[in-house]
This record gives sequence, structure tokens and C-alpha cells, in this order.
Amino acid sequence: MDFTEHDAPDQVARRLESRGFSMVTMAEPGPPDAAITSLSAALRLGDPYIPALYRYAATKGYSDAYSNIRSDTKVRHPGFSTTAGQAWHVDGLLDDIGEVKTTILYCVRAAHRGGETLLFNSLAAFAELREKDPAAAEALLSPSALNRRSTIPAIDVNATGPVFSVDEKGDLITRYTDNETCTWNFSAGPPGGLRRALNFLRAASDNPRYRLAVRLTTGQALIFRNDRLSHGRQPYEDRPDAPRHLTRALYVNAPTCHTDEAVVACPAT
Ligand SMILES: [Fe+2]
Repeated sequence: MDFTEHDAPDQVARRLESRGFSMVTMAEPGPPDAAITSLSAALRLGDPYIPALYRYAATKGYSDAYSNIRSDTKVRHPGFSTTAGQAWHVDGLLDDIGEVKTTILYCVRAAHRGGETLLFNSLAAFAELREKDPAAAEALLSPSALNRRSTIPAIDVNATGPVFSVDEKGDLITRYTDNETCTWNFSAGPPGGLRRALNFLRAASDNPRYRLAVRLTTGQALIFRNDRLSHGRQPYEDRPDAPRHLTRALYVNAPTCHTDEAVVACPAT
């Protein structure tokens, strides 16, 4: 979608409501912070959110409102600064489930090879599990099911919570993550349920029905619901003179549709 179209913000809001993500092409490539600022203003997302993990003295170096994601051997962030793949996760490791509702990734430069952003519709997979194995789904709702701990050197913090939950509006939300930050509490919920649930979600995240790979090019942005989808990254190769570079911002708000300045619920398209 071309973000210069007059109704682009409403289209983005509708796509986020129906599919959880939208890709847009900005009018002209420019400084990433300015591109994200104009996007977030048009979508009425408010100010970028600094995740709880980045409010400690030891992690202040990562607390920029606009985080640069690019390979840098001097930076010791396990996700931002390497060319390795990233397993499924949601942003906001220490934040409560559903807190970080929207992530924007703006592409300054694509990788020479690889580096696709991966999206997993974990909510849809959860809905299928609930039909097939309600006890396994129940285990995922347990407040003690999943602990996530920081893997950033020099900061030892963690947070425990459910893998899925229902928000104040009655909508399902997720913090499904399956990476090196996770410790699963297999005694949570009905016996054996969490083990079966995890096996189911791992298989579902490999199923094209629930999984999508998107490759961003210069001047494109991916906007997605961090409380409804899990995401990851393919490993990539850089050309030394043109390394992959994305800029990320997080928001506690989700885009809403606007008609005659009245905020309305977005009809699904
Ligand atoms: Fe992420």
C-alpha cells in the first residue's frame, strides 16, 4: 500500500484489525525517525513506548524511542546486533501481556541475502487448539505458564505470565515466545496440557496457514499487532558496504479508524 493515498491510515487500521499486520511504502525514503513519526501520527499511535527492560541503568543504551536494528559487533544486544535468525517472540519481554500493542519496523536497507521478518498468527493457532484440546489451551492461560528472562549481559531480570489471555474488551491477546528467554512451567494448568500445547504451537508456527515471511525493502514499513501476532527473523548476510538496517518503534496503542473525526471500530475487510 502506498502511504500517500488519502485513506491509507484507515486502510492500515482495518488491515491490522482483520489480519494483524500491514505493509506500507512511504512516499519517499527519508530519515527513519521522521518516516516512523509521520506514520505513527497518521495512525494516532501516540508517543513511542520504552519497554520495561530498557529502563534499567545497564540497559539504558537500548532505550532509544527509535531502535536501530543492524549488525554491530560492538553492541551486545542478543537480538538487535547480530545477523542470526530470531525465534518467535513478542516485543516487551518484561511488560505485561498485551501492553505493547503495536510494533513498527521501518526498512532503511534490506539485507544482501535473507533477513525476512516472520509473522506467526499465534492467536489463530490458539483458537484451533482450544477446539481440539481444551485442556492444553487452558494450560496456556495459566498465569504461571511462561517465564521470560533477559539474555542481555549484566541484567538479570525476568517476568512470569500467561501465554495467552483475554483483555478488558474481551479480545484474545498473546505473548507466545519460544526462544532462549523462555522457561516453561510444565506443572501449570491441567496435567500434560502445557507440553501438548507447546508441541501444537511449534508445529503450527511451521504451517503456512499460520506463518508468513515478509521482505521489506528501502522505504517500506511493516506495522503489526504485537499483542496478536508473534514474530521472528530469518538469518541474513550483509554486504559490508550496505548492511541491513531496520528501525523499530513500539506503542501501547493500536491504530483506530476515524470517520468524521469520530473514533469508530474498524470493520474487518
Ligand atoms: Fe522483536
